[in-house]
Amino acid sequence: MWSCDKRDETMVRLHINIDHVATLRNARGEKYPDPVFAAELCELAGADGITAHLREDRRHIRDDDVARLKASVRTLLNLEMAATAEMIAIAERVRPDVITLVPERREERTTEGGLNVRGQRAAIEEAVNMARRTGIKVSLFIAADLDAVVASHEVGAHQIELHTGEYCHAGSERVSHELGRLRSAAEKASTLGLEVAAGHGLTRHNVGPVVQIPQIEEVNIGHSVIADAVFMGMERAVRDLRAAIERVRR
Ligand code: PXP
Repeated sequence: MWSCDKRDETMVRLHINIDHVATLRNARGEKYPDPVFAAELCELAGADGITAHLREDRRHIRDDDVARLKASVRTLLNLEMAATAEMIAIAERVRPDVITLVPERREERTTEGGLNVRGQRAAIEEAVNMARRTGIKVSLFIAADLDAVVASHEVGAHQIELHTGEYCHAGSERVSHELGRLRSAAEKASTLGLEVAAGHGLTRHNVGPVVQIPQIEEVNIGHSVIADAVFMGMERAVRDLRAAIERVRR
């Protein structure tokens, strides 16, 4: 059963999203590189958890990857998924430690924007009910929007993950505005008793100001760390990211 341990204010959980190892594998229809092996290396390098997104179109992670990750991950498995009947049934069967509900559109290149929690309330509640029944922690991927935070609390989520894409892509004139939005959403969530994660577009260069927000206790990072791993290896890429986080958090 998921439980909320008393948190150490200086620690930020680093979860590595290994989807794009599968993207590379699938580009050639081979068995390599194996995202499960990548997950093992991330754990050896000190990642606190492994994140994988099983998309409806299976463009990167596939069903058998999820089953193999469940068998192999020793830290924590966070399954990103849409709140659909198919995905809810898969999560109930596989039992990851955490599910992160995300919006999903077939034509998008990556997850664009956060969940419309009020608009999708019935589907989200179905996923939350399954998760509560089975002891899975539920995180909702939302924009840094106060009403989305309140709605996440109302549907019974344990955690929100704030979409950092707008911060990451903001020009210098908007960065502090976007950080302010993240900070306000994180503060609001914390007063409601929600845990706060952040993710999307984060790199070892831009993660610092995000983890300076004290309520943020987890980051989920994928594309940039896999890109770094191409040049410097998985272990060094994860360790450099951890160092970038700890430099600010200590
Ligand atoms: N968090 C969520 C909920 C996501 O959907 C994604 C992208 O799959 C990420 C984090 C990781 O984003 P990136 O690959 O840009 O680091």
